[in-house]
Amino acid sequence: MRKLAAGNWKMNGTRAGLAEVQALLAAQPDPACEMLLCPPATLIAAMAALTQGSRLQVGAQDCHARASGAHTGDLSAAMLADAGASHVILGHSERRADHGETDAQVRTKAEAAIATGLVAIVCLGETEAERDAGQTLEVIGAQLDGSVPEDATAANLVIAYEPVWAIGTGRTPTIAQIAEVHGFLRARLTARIGAEAAGVRLLYGGSVKPGNAAEIFAVPDVDGALVGGASLKAADFAPIVAAL
Ligand code: G3P
Repeated sequence: MRKLAAGNWKMNGTRAGLAEVQALLAAQPDPACEMLLCPPATLIAAMAALTQGSRLQVGAQDCHARASGAHTGDLSAAMLADAGASHVILGHSERRADHGETDAQVRTKAEAAIATGLVAIVCLGETEAERDAGQTLEVIGAQLDGSVPEDATAANLVIAYEPVWAIGTGRTPTIAQIAEVHGFLRARLTARIGAEAAGVRLLYGGSVKPGNAAEIFAVPDVDGALVGGASLKAADFAPIVAAL
């Protein structure tokens, strides 16, 4: 399985930020892992043009479940693919919190993305209150069951485990906690999609930095990372890519 270093720029970046993409390509022209950046939708086409023929893939941060229609402000999976996206992040906790996205909505978006030929990166994660209450595996298991299409494969699905309390906080779970959740996810995914689950990349996300990447990537069943803040600068993201 080829590991995946994915960056989520969230609502950050204008065309001036594309200089960081050039710097990343200069620093990591031929990485051992797959390398992906998911900028705001406004930058997908420009980033795709800039990275054509390179090892850097471009993804989106959300899509609508429908192919077209009266959905002001939304973008379909086909539009994102047309702009140059190969992947789409779905069900990020910020979308679940800010836009009330449910597991069922995330699943229909993932189905639309997969049907369009995009790789769906489905995000899961517990809040701090849920972890403190001992509900982490129950919460994540329910999110996985509800969000992942039953016909997903290793080629069209990636799962990202992002504990909500670790996002943008500088806090990370212990290595044992990451190992527990990723092992659980592999087993639960196997129960859902069968043997295909062995090849599905399970990313860890939440305050991944150059200084902690190697330790996290050594955890069994961690097949890469979904990186937020540290993906904005090539000087931070390149060493994370190099650690995979
Ligand atoms: O999707 C990536 C993410 O939520 C993690 O963000 O800034 O903690 O790396 P950050």
